[in-house]
Amino acid sequence: MGVEVSVEGLTKSFGSQNIWRDVTLTLPEGEVSALLGPSGTGKSVFLKALIGLLHPEQGSVIVDGTDITKCSSKELYEIRKLFGVLFQDGALFGSMSLFDNTAFPLREHTKKSESDIRSIVMEKLDLVGLGDAGDKLPGEISGGMRKRAGLARALVLDPQIILCDEPDSGLDPVRTAYISQLLIDINAEIDATILIVTHNINIARTIPDNIGMLFRKELVMFGPREVLLTSDEPAVKQFLSGDRFGPIGMSEEKDDATAAQEQELADAGIGGGGTKDDFSEIIPQVQPNPGMPERKASARHRQRVEDMMHELPESAQKAIRQSQEAEDEVRRNNAEAQERSGQSGGSQKVDTEKQFAGSNDNTEQFPAYRGGN
Ligand SMILES: Nc1ncnc2c1ncn2[C@@H]1O[C@H](COP(=O)(O)OP(=O)(O)O)[C@@H](O)[C@H]1O
Ligand SMILES: [Mg+2]
Repeated sequence: MGVEVSVEGLTKSFGSQNIWRDVTLTLPEGEVSALLGPSGTGKSVFLKALIGLLHPEQGSVIVDGTDITKCSSKELYEIRKLFGVLFQDGALFGSMSLFDNTAFPLREHTKKSESDIRSIVMEKLDLVGLGDAGDKLPGEISGGMRKRAGLARALVLDPQIILCDEPDSGLDPVRTAYISQLLIDINAEIDATILIVTHNINIARTIPDNIGMLFRKELVMFGPREVLLTSDEPAVKQFLSGDRFGPIGMSEEKDDATAAQEQELADAGIGGGGTKDDFSEIIPQVQPNPGMPERKASARHRQRVEDMMHELPESAQKAIRQSQEAEDEVRRNNAEAQERSGQSGGSQKVDTEKQFAGSNDNTEQFPAYRGGN
């Protein structure tokens, strides 16, 4: 069962350089949240502050009732066991095999026997499609495989909170889709609270329950994905459509002259290269694969959106209703597919392995994925 992480008024600087200030948000228990923002806005720093690796000057981070910015190092050590973290670069030990890398937290934090460790490690490596690669060294495998090994290691202690720093960086779109699906499936299976740091617009639009965005040293918005995807907030809109035109510039902030120039170009009908969607349509959220339990957080999340609905513009309400109907249909189809395949047996583990194995990964095999579902 995932736990809530509640951040209040958090501020972090390095020397005289302020990174972000007064960040307040709650990662609801068991829900998947994504933190977006241009490069260098301090997303990785935020993630490290959540596990007490970096120390903010102000504010609090409450995990399972404990403020980790103020607790003793002994308490922090215990709290950290709730977390599974996939760092941006995978952070594997280069001289250790994938098996030993994955076993590391178990050997470090538990008194389990080697045979117990072996079975847990093999289960997690299988889950990320690396069941046959346990004896490989990180230097012998692709970036995508290193990411997946990092994820396997993040999962071995059955974390209640999973933090993933750019799980998609260095992955091709198809592998990105698999790793995103895997995160949704893991969420369905263990109900962990998940935070994904990413700049990937597709992930942001289809995976999380909630989205937050860091920009100009502040958290611009944090809330249900449905609300941000239909938001008029200029920075959020620009980022989610990947457009050159808008408040976000190459060096983060644009001056007035550049903004005026852009307006002229836009008036002359020249675009900034982003997707032209008007956000009147929301792509339905990715659902767990057939055979996975329903996500426990889904109902809670939907209720929260329902409670906010009356504050939203009519067009947003309509878009949200439509995406909810589409999600429900995918769920029904998945349940039916599961019922049909249930008779022939076939475990989920085999399915996941098949997803990652082979050089010709083919999305057509996985009906749940079609059409961005
Ligand atoms: N340990 C550190 N000491 C000093 N500055 C740091 C440290 N870690 C990160 N920074 C600075 O914080 C800023 C945000 O970095 P980061 O969190 O990596 O951005 P993002 O992940 O959003 O791309 C950068 O300017 C970076 O140089
Ligand atoms: Mg980063």
